Amino acid sequence: MHTIPIHTNSQDSRILVGESISNLAQYLPQGKTIIITDENILKIYGSVFPPAPVISIGLGEQNKTLETLNFIFDKLVMYEADRSTFILAIGGGIVCDVAGFAASIYMRGLRYGFVSTTLLSQVDASVGGKNGVNFHKFKNILGVFNQPEFVVVDISMLKTLDELEYISGFAEIIKAAAIKDETLFSYLENNYEAALRKEATVLEKIIHDSIIIKSRVVENDEKEKGERRILNFGHTFAHAIEHITGMLHGEAVSIGMALASDLSVKMGHLTKADQEKLIRLLQNMQLPVSMNNHNVKSLIDAMKMDKKREGENLHMVFLDRIGHAIVKTVSFNQLEKTFI
Ligand SMILES: NC(=O)c1ccc[n+]([C@@H]2O[C@H](COP(=O)([O-])OP(=O)(O)OC[C@H]3O[C@@H](n4cnc5c(N)ncnc54)[C@H](O)[C@@H]3O)[C@@H](O)[C@H]2O)c1
Ligand SMILES: [Zn+2]
Repeated sequence: MHTIPIHTNSQDSRILVGESISNLAQYLPQGKTIIITDENILKIYGSVFPPAPVISIGLGEQNKTLETLNFIFDKLVMYEADRSTFILAIGGGIVCDVAGFAASIYMRGLRYGFVSTTLLSQVDASVGGKNGVNFHKFKNILGVFNQPEFVVVDISMLKTLDELEYISGFAEIIKAAAIKDETLFSYLENNYEAALRKEATVLEKIIHDSIIIKSRVVENDEKEKGERRILNFGHTFAHAIEHITGMLHGEAVSIGMALASDLSVKMGHLTKADQEKLIRLLQNMQLPVSMNNHNVKSLIDAMKMDKKREGENLHMVFLDRIGHAIVKTVSFNQLEKTFI
């Protein structure tokens, strides 16, 4: 087990990589704990939850809403949660985002922690203290920055995860390596088959290194004023792709990275050879690198909805080599000219 401490201006947190859900009790404070989870996790892992009242939310992005928060607050009142209550979220990114937000605003903030159960949430969603819900068509538009006290990353729980969900989590891992860690990138090139087979030692190293990358970026720039933006590599395209196709986030990020690296080559930042390395790794990890039946024009139109857009311009993340990213402002006009 590895403990990764995270120090930010708002709060310190620690991520426990390789810890087991069965050891949870030692991390919980004295007094009342209330668990927030989803239907799937409750069914599979409910029998190993620590003894505590359970609030179970519905499945999928359509439940990341104010209505779900209402439902949670009703239950918290019913269970007589007070300022000393600890909230324990057990689940993937949806549960962690919603429960983290609920814990952050109920009675001006309760203590909380996560057991992160999907690959995507272990390496990304539960690292960095962003939480929140969607509102109308706007994703993650209501939320706060607030770090959980701890995140338990139990790698054995990934065994029960759907295969497509598992593979899609690798997009964020490859992203982390591509923007910040050439050594991890090479490790992935050499060990992708073992990773796909869920070999524990390989998986633990990859997850640990990805969390280190994200947590170091977050420590430098918790509120995304500068460096944290590089974590959005591939994401401006990905959000539009998700919107148009309904693909899983990781699949869309994979295609988004293929497009962003292509743009990096076209704008003279990245060599074609480095771009091909990225594409090969994505494909080896069984991730998609292009969209069928959708053209780039419709994608750019959808990108105009991006909440990170600033007028006619977007902050876009480019690679200038494997392991290093740069952020530049590009106009929609420039994007259209380069791509179409
Ligand atoms: N806060 C952040 O910084 C951040 C970063 C990235 C993504 N996110 C958010 O994360 C969300 C997506 O998270 P996700 O991909 O984890 O999806 P998810 O939480 O919906 O989980 C995917 C599915 O897998 C099931 N599941 C979870 N763990 C399982 C396990 N161990 N075994 C079997 N089934 C399991 C869930 O019930 C669900 O059906 C999005 O809403 C996204 O916006 C947030
Ligand atoms: Zn992402």
